Amino acid sequence: MALYSEKVMDHFRNPRNVGVIEDADGIGEVGNAKCGDIMKMYLKIEDDKIADVKFETFGCGSAIASSSMATELIMGQPVSEAMKLTNKAVAEALDGLPDYKMHCSVLAEEAIRNALEDYYSRHPEKKKGIKP
Ligand code: FES
Repeated sequence: MALYSEKVMDHFRNPRNVGVIEDADGIGEVGNAKCGDIMKMYLKIEDDKIADVKFETFGCGSAIASSSMATELIMGQPVSEAMKLTNKAVAEALDGLPDYKMHCSVLAEEAIRNALEDYYSRHPEKKKGIKP
């Protein structure tokens, strides 16, 4: 069996939503100290929904594929749903990642969570009733 699924390879080769949102409502940046990979997520939020999301990832193929898939999973979703995105859901949507690459999907979960926390820190009134 191939080490990486077709979906991982597809999102690695043709990542969706790469880039920067200049007037982002929330920005989250995370890194993994062991491998040195860095991921940054930009969110545009309108009517409590993810109106746009873009990422920049300086990292391995699994981190790029995870970022790309994570942006697709939360695009258009209510903020409350995006907050619940787990690395497991990202890995499952990619048809799996090798065990030693699961931490790459954790970066995607954390970057989105951090971007949402950044959004809430700018708009504390929006946080009511939403638990991370
Ligand atoms: Fe660290 Fe992929 S090897 S994010």
